[in-house]
Amino acid sequence: MSAHLDLDEPEPAVADDGVWLTCIECGETFAPFAEIRYTCDDCDGLLEVRYADLPTWDDFGAGGSPESGPYGVWRYSAGLPFEEGVSLPEGGTPLHYVPRIEEEVGVNNLRIKHEGMNPTGSFKDRGMTVGVRVAKEVGVDRLACASTGNTSAALAAYGARGGMETLVLLPAGKVAAGKVAQASLHGARILEVDGNFDSCLDIVQDLAARGEAYLLNSLNPFRLEGQKTIGLEIMERFHADEGTYPDRIVLPVGNAGNTAALYKCFRELRKAGAIDEGDVPKLTGVQAEGSAPMVEAVEEGNDEVRRWEDVETRATAIRIGNPVNAPKALPGIRETGGTAVAVSDEAITDAQRSLAQEGVGVEPASAASLAGLRKLRESGEIGADEDVVCLTTGHLLKDPDAAYEAGGDPEPVPNDTEAVLDHLGE
Ligand code: F0G
Repeated sequence: MSAHLDLDEPEPAVADDGVWLTCIECGETFAPFAEIRYTCDDCDGLLEVRYADLPTWDDFGAGGSPESGPYGVWRYSAGLPFEEGVSLPEGGTPLHYVPRIEEEVGVNNLRIKHEGMNPTGSFKDRGMTVGVRVAKEVGVDRLACASTGNTSAALAAYGARGGMETLVLLPAGKVAAGKVAQASLHGARILEVDGNFDSCLDIVQDLAARGEAYLLNSLNPFRLEGQKTIGLEIMERFHADEGTYPDRIVLPVGNAGNTAALYKCFRELRKAGAIDEGDVPKLTGVQAEGSAPMVEAVEEGNDEVRRWEDVETRATAIRIGNPVNAPKALPGIRETGGTAVAVSDEAITDAQRSLAQEGVGVEPASAASLAGLRKLRESGEIGADEDVVCLTTGHLLKDPDAAYEAGGDPEPVPNDTEAVLDHLGE
């Protein structure tokens, strides 16, 4: 099935320099920076950033023109609300070849877009460089987020870079060590909540509604603008290497912000005439079995996602029961002809090991993409002729405990060369 994207666009009542916010539910439009809002005043629907002019590849300076900036988020500023942001800098991540896994999985072409190579080690940096720039525009001084870890690390670093105060709410005992260490050293005030990520997000939304802090979770539509550059980079680089666009992008899903951002990227490229309908990759989301409300909705054909109160997985980054961006992401999965699949923690760890054996070090949630590809390939849902990009969202060092458990044990040896040789000869 080829993609059929919904490209209808209501006219804006208010636009600032050709940029405005549109409610995806009722179509109401708002000026982007005059007041702070995260959802629609009228119906509480999710907001999306819209532009009067959508850029094509030439406007991005792609294709080797002298205007081309270095690879990274701000290379694509023609499709963003600002020319530049609070930057470390971010984006321009590798699109690895993994020939042994490609052969084992049995697809025509497999590439790994390793977002763990961003400055704080996850794709969240792409959203933060834009989000913190917007925070400056609207004139706030305290930034906040709920997080399974990576968002808090990115917020802390970009907030520090921007000279702003940061507050992060984390589910107590469920955030990987590397991420808490980052948030702490970059100077965030860390509140550990006796609840899961979803309850942290409920609280931080309340704080934001009371004007206590500027919310920088992916509910904030500007975060997703930065994250859509993952899609732009994949499309530009894959096309430069292969002369075609990938058939499918497989990615881990938590709050479904990235899925929504990629869908938006494809819609904008289509509207600008930069790609054809047949070029749109199938968006394929992967969740852990113990935390799979999006998969449930896709499998049952539901328009709404049921909130799971109890969630559990070793992939703590995607331990989320209430994916707030589902209304943006579900149409993306459906309209691109993609799907969603749940994988076991064991399959995630196996995939983490396989990637590590190709030199690509990722955290457990990231490896869910490869685990999902394997499962869908085995069931025949993904064909042997497909060109696939798997997104790996966070770096191995984010979760040293998981890496240590998945890897081999160190071998104690005496402090003596002969004894070491003896040991190796065993
Ligand atoms: N992979 C990693 C490593 C993540 O940290 C996250 C989300 C996801 C995948 C899922 O992305 O939410 O856009 O579907 N982490 C958030 C956080 C929730 O707080 O760091 P999504």
